[in-house]
Amino acid sequence: MGAQQHRAALGALSRAESRHPLLPALAAQGIGIVAVGLPTLVFFPSLLQQAMLLAMLQGGIAAIMARALQAPSWWLVIHIVFMPLVVGVRALDLPAWTWPTGLILLLLVFWRTDRGQVPLYLSSRECVESVLPLLPSRPCRVIDLGCGDGALLRRLARARPDSRFVGVEHAPLPWLWAWLAGRSLPNLKIVWGSFWSLPLDGYDLVYAYLSPAPMSRLWAKATAEMSSGALLVSNSFAVPERMADSRIAVSDRAMTYFYVYRPADMAV
Ligand SMILES: C[S@@+](CC[C@H](N)C(=O)[O-])C[C@H]1O[C@@H](n2cnc3c(N)ncnc32)[C@H](O)[C@@H]1O
Repeated sequence: MGAQQHRAALGALSRAESRHPLLPALAAQGIGIVAVGLPTLVFFPSLLQQAMLLAMLQGGIAAIMARALQAPSWWLVIHIVFMPLVVGVRALDLPAWTWPTGLILLLLVFWRTDRGQVPLYLSSRECVESVLPLLPSRPCRVIDLGCGDGALLRRLARARPDSRFVGVEHAPLPWLWAWLAGRSLPNLKIVWGSFWSLPLDGYDLVYAYLSPAPMSRLWAKATAEMSSGALLVSNSFAVPERMADSRIAVSDRAMTYFYVYRPADMAV
């Protein structure tokens, strides 16, 4: 595939992924509220005392609607638990300021998860042991796309002081944590921003622990930009319709698998 075709493929994937998933989520929640709220108000007003029951009913209907609107399956869980959680937390009678504070904290941690569909969850400690043997024995360069709290990179940077490690993270709070915690390591750099706008050439290993959603777009970027011989290591999520060079079992409790590719050498 030529560079121009790669750019076109990247553009198409990026447009497809930027459709706002919050709209169907809001629609599903709204339909759940109306479907439960209206009959309750008109026919069974005494049920209004049973807030948790109504919330669970609303969550179930919202999840069914989300399914009908073809939302990814992890949204169904959010729909089922959202309203019961609101009702449960309200019962705790917390001071008013805790609501906006909680919301702001969630936004700062799960920054743009609605669009990118890549929430924050962290690689296990054991992942470091599985990444280290993949690094060349000479000094090399490694990037973690969406580095979260940066813990994986800090461990790698300590284990390989001869090599350079870069983490890029767009969520403000994890970025701040990773940056502060990594300041003392001279071979670690934490960058705030989106990895989509960072070129991947010059790295010997690109590590990604994302979600199924961006994998096709990541593949297009990796084949266009990564250097020959460089490895793309994806924690847990395989590139659709691409055979991995190897699949590595990490001995952790989550029974993690790494999918390892050489994108520059596999581009067809
Ligand atoms: C599943 S976590 C993995 C964290 C870390 N790499 C690890 O393995 O422990 C994915 C991270 O990617 C971040 N992220 C998602 N999309 C991003 C983007 N376009 N640019 C930068 N960071 C992104 C999320 O905020 C989240 O912190």
